[in-house]
Amino acid sequence: MDFTQLIKDMPKAELHLHIEGTLEPELMMALAERNGVSLPYKSVEEIRQAYEFSDLQSFLDIYYAGAAVLQTRQDFYDLTYAYLERAASDNVRHVEIFFDPQTHTDRGIAFEVLLDGIHDALQAGEEKLGITFRLILCFLRHLSADEAMATLDEALPYKDRLHAVGLDSSEVGHPPSKFTRVFDRALDAGLLTVAHAGEEGPPEYIHEALDLLQVRRIDHGVRCLEDEELVKRLVREQIPLTVCPLSNVKLRVFDTLQQHNLNELLQAGLCVTINSDDPAYFGGYIVENFQQTQKALGLSATQLQTLAQNAFKASFLPAEDIERHVDSVNKVFAAQRA
Ligand code: HPA
Ligand code: ZN
Repeated sequence: MDFTQLIKDMPKAELHLHIEGTLEPELMMALAERNGVSLPYKSVEEIRQAYEFSDLQSFLDIYYAGAAVLQTRQDFYDLTYAYLERAASDNVRHVEIFFDPQTHTDRGIAFEVLLDGIHDALQAGEEKLGITFRLILCFLRHLSADEAMATLDEALPYKDRLHAVGLDSSEVGHPPSKFTRVFDRALDAGLLTVAHAGEEGPPEYIHEALDLLQVRRIDHGVRCLEDEELVKRLVREQIPLTVCPLSNVKLRVFDTLQQHNLNELLQAGLCVTINSDDPAYFGGYIVENFQQTQKALGLSATQLQTLAQNAFKASFLPAEDIERHVDSVNKVFAAQRA
């Protein structure tokens, strides 16, 4: 069967995507030049060669340094629109993207500048490319809860443009419980919540995210299989996992794609989705994540159909939109079987 075409054709939603992680080396160089920022790299090839990671932290160090080229509203617009064009060509119909305001506000960029740039591009993407969107503000968990609260205070006047808050950056040593108060305030303001948990951190962090942060989804969550009761709970409550296979291999959560536990996660009855995380850094966008994972794990057409449906079911879209997208997924698979 031609899985390559099927994976391209199936309507997709992307739910775990850091917009800063879509900064391709070419755009990084161009923005460095445009803004007079000096980079420790001389060429696009040199940037790519620097992308050798041994774990999450070694990636984050390079990732935050690269983000320094983003300075103006136009920069954030260009970054976001470039991702959306790529997503459109991959037949992505809906995106729920993360942004990390602290990466930029700590460098003196105004919150409004980055939010305007990202949001303008998302609106243009909806109008011109037909991709619907939600925006999720992530707190950097290696920074203090007070700093996260100050970021939330800064963001709340713009909450109409935000749908949820999340938690990313260095996981181990920074459990969800550190941010209970911040998430309580976001929930009180009517925002939904998600959190990275169980990527490098233990299953206990997934429990905490559910119990203390009231999350609707777990980002990554692959370590849940170490805790049988937790798996039962995630299945029972139908808490989706936004899994990022190429990211997991690049950051050595799994040594190879063949060793990834995605098949086990699906077999356990979990609502698993496939996403690209930081595609400019991890060697592939959503289609490459699907294609390489299908090949490595021998995923069937039925499993691909489930994964495509899950992404819409796990999204924050209204029920009638979810139904319409799931129907469109089913049509593509029915045509392929005919
Ligand atoms: N984990 C934690 N923080 C991140 C990630 C991730 O996969 N990507 C970008 N920031
Ligand atoms: Zn992530």
